[in-house]
Amino acid sequence: TMSALDSAKKSAAIKAVDLHVQNNTVVGVGSGSTVVYAVERLAERVKSEKLNIQCIPTSFQARQLIIQHRLPITDLEVNPKLDVCIDGADEVDCNLTLIKGGGGCLLQEKIVASCSKELIIIADYTKNSQKLGDQYKKGIPIEVVPMAYVPIKTQIENLFGGTVELRMAKAKAGPVVTDNGNFILDWKNFQQDYDWEDVNKKLSLIPGVVETGLFIKIAKKAYFGLADGSVKEQV
Ligand code: A5P
Repeated sequence: TMSALDSAKKSAAIKAVDLHVQNNTVVGVGSGSTVVYAVERLAERVKSEKLNIQCIPTSFQARQLIIQHRLPITDLEVNPKLDVCIDGADEVDCNLTLIKGGGGCLLQEKIVASCSKELIIIADYTKNSQKLGDQYKKGIPIEVVPMAYVPIKTQIENLFGGTVELRMAKAKAGPVVTDNGNFILDWKNFQQDYDWEDVNKKLSLIPGVVETGLFIKIAKKAYFGLADGSVKEQV
């Protein structure tokens, strides 16, 4: 049987796929454990409704999911415009500002979302918060060019405070290397009353910062699966 958390993820995913994926569309497929249920639902609908969709992955993991479920796969070179992108998040605040990149896929996720008419977030109830940092304690992920990780860490700590850590791999000695060959810094213990748009601009201007896991004014709607099986919407 499924845990409460897993069924919450699944109910959010089903609702988003059923309400936001139409026939003859290009669909962005996000990354993480919640998106697995969205891909399962897409595959069910392709079979039962003969739904015609083209899928664009946001990571190696998403690409594998799409291939395993035998969904049609495409890319931004062939299809630079998407109708909808469905993705998870590490935290969603009351303004629909997101922390993403817990799975290290933030760069491709932000690119694909930016090419999409709408980004729909699917998550369990633990991701829903008032202020960024209330729920997610692993920090804001920042993808960086490997040679610059020390100066970038120092600059972020000097500019904004908190602590910045190089994300280390679990099953090998050394740092996590992203799908794009970069490193991930996790910025922890930050203040919570920032103007995140301003912070994001300043972070992005540091040489060697490739992308941040702050998604601001990008998501259109979030679906949170709750413990009682219902799904809460946030716009
Ligand atoms: C991946 O880089 C992240 O942005 C994911 O979207 C995030 O970690 C959500 O994953 P779960 O659905 O497993 O919580």
